[in-house]
Parts: sequence; C-alpha cells; structure tokens
Amino acid sequence: MSANTTPELITVTTEGRVGIVTLNRPKQLNALNDQLMTELGTALKAFDADDAIGCMVITGSEKAFAAGADIGAMATYSFTDVYKGDYITRNWETIRSVRKPVIAAVSGFALGGGCELAMMCDFIIAADNAKFGQPEIKLGIIPGAGGTQRLPRAVGKAKAMDLVLTGRMMDATEAERAGLVSRVVPLEKLMEETLGAALMICEYSLISVMAAKESVNRAFESGLADGVMFERRLFHALFATEDQKEGMDAFVNKRKAAFKHR
Ligand code: CAA
Repeated sequence: MSANTTPELITVTTEGRVGIVTLNRPKQLNALNDQLMTELGTALKAFDADDAIGCMVITGSEKAFAAGADIGAMATYSFTDVYKGDYITRNWETIRSVRKPVIAAVSGFALGGGCELAMMCDFIIAADNAKFGQPEIKLGIIPGAGGTQRLPRAVGKAKAMDLVLTGRMMDATEAERAGLVSRVVPLEKLMEETLGAALMICEYSLISVMAAKESVNRAFESGLADGVMFERRLFHALFATEDQKEGMDAFVNKRKAAFKHR
C-alpha cells in the first residue's frame, strides 16, 4: 500500500479528537504482516501530523488484538532472507516515533508480536478476556519486536523469563497485577473506557502531553540522574508556554482551563 491508497487490513476512524486504528484481519486473528504494519505506521503518522487529533487508540477484535507476526509469511524464510531484508519487524518501530499518546485497547489474544505491539503503545487498557503471551519459543524462535526488552521492563525479570521461556499465556488479572496493563475492564466497556481516557488526554495542552510522554519514555533510556535532569529541563521549558499560564490561572480563578495548544 502506498501512503495514498485506502488501507485494507486496518480501519481508520475518529471519535472527537481521538484517532482510532482497528486491526482488521479477522480470519487470521489479526496476524501482523508487512502490509498491515505499513498501513498501521502510515495511519499513525498521519494522525500524529493532524492538528485535529490529540491522542490515538489501537485496537483489534473481541477475539484477538493480534495473534502475533504472520507465521505463514515467515515459515519459509531463511536467515539470509530475514537478515538481508531486515524482514518481519523492519517497519514496526514507526509507532515509537509518534509523539502524541497511543493507547492499546486489548481484548482477546495479544500474543507474540501482538503483545509486543501493545507494549510499544504508551499504555494498555485490557478487557477481562485479554490474554498476553510471548509464545515464540514454541516456534523455535524468540520474540523479535522488543518482547525480551520491553516485557522485563514492564513486569520484571522473573515473570518475563517465565512467559518467554514457557510460552504460556497470562490473563488480564495477572497482567494488571504484574504492571503490564494499566486497567482491566469488562469486555463491553473496553472502548468506552479507552475513549474516555483518550478524550481526557485530548483536553490537556498537547505541549505538556507530548513532554510528559517524552519524559516518561526517557526513564527507560537513561540512568536516574540523567532522567531527572531531562525531566527538569522539560518542566522548566513548559513555563514558557501560554498553556502553563492558562492552566494555572484557571486553577487560581476556579474555572476550567481552555488550553490553546491542543
Ligand atoms: N500467524 C498467521 N496465522 C495465524 C496466527 C499467526 N500468528 N495466529 C492465528 N492464525 C490463524 C490460524 O492459522 C487460523 O487460520 P485458519 O483458520 O486458516 O486455520 C486462524 O488464525 C484461527 O486460529 P486458530 O484456529 O488457531 O484459533 P484458536 O482459537 O484455536 O487459537 C491462538 C488461537 C491460541 C491465538 C492460536 O491461533 C495461536 O497459537 N496462534 C499463534 C500465536 C503465536 O505463536 N504468535 C507468535 C507469532 S511469532 C511472532 O510474533 C514473532 C515476533 O515476535 C515478531
């Protein structure tokens, strides 16, 4: 798919200032192939550049957020193929370059690359039927889209090793207890709850929202002293914005803030 063609494996919608991408390969449980990930990256970049959008949501179907990278497509690849062409996950990191927040609304299976895609989002809201796992070990491979790196940062070494080495699935309750997901909600409330969070984020100053995202992400890239200094620089910089004046004036005068940069 080129940037201007209609996507085939995702649907792209909006709800207020929220951009929503729904993975749409139901027969394959949203298995993630090159085309789908290119379409997803293109849609997210377009939302990121769109002033009418303040936050994004990625979701799947009730049965599957995504059951992983497309095993059928990978089955016959050789080392030479995947190494030379940087195949399978070469276009996955686009999502990390998006500066507005991205929430994963996960119901059903989030396995392998599906779990990794959810972890690339800024936070995960899970339906009570969600199941997370990194079952790549069962296929004679290991996670290839950040699973061995992001999972231990989210749930700690013990549980990450357990999941990656056994390939077992973890239900939504365990995922919340472990810190992988921020909230668990009944399946029928998943989109309502996720859109509620996304629309709330859209009400804030986009400058401070982007700075907050950048600063939290920095915690995973730097030592504590560097991270705190990074945060302090951004914190100070926000005092140069009109939205800081508006936010604090609104509080002092007991009115709702009307941020200019949304
Ligand atoms: N790739 C391609 N097709 C997939 C798929 C995948 N990852 N996951 C499911 N499908 C397909 C199945 O082949 C099946 O297709 P057919 O109807 O044509 O046979 C269809 O989706 C429905 O799947 P099941 O019949 O298996 O459904 P189920 O309810 O019995 O089981 C499941 C669901 C437990 C998720 C099971 O499908 C499964 O184990 N899927 C594979 C999960 C997996 O191993 N993911 C890791 C992939 S590797 C990876 O992601 C690498 C990386 O790190 C980037």
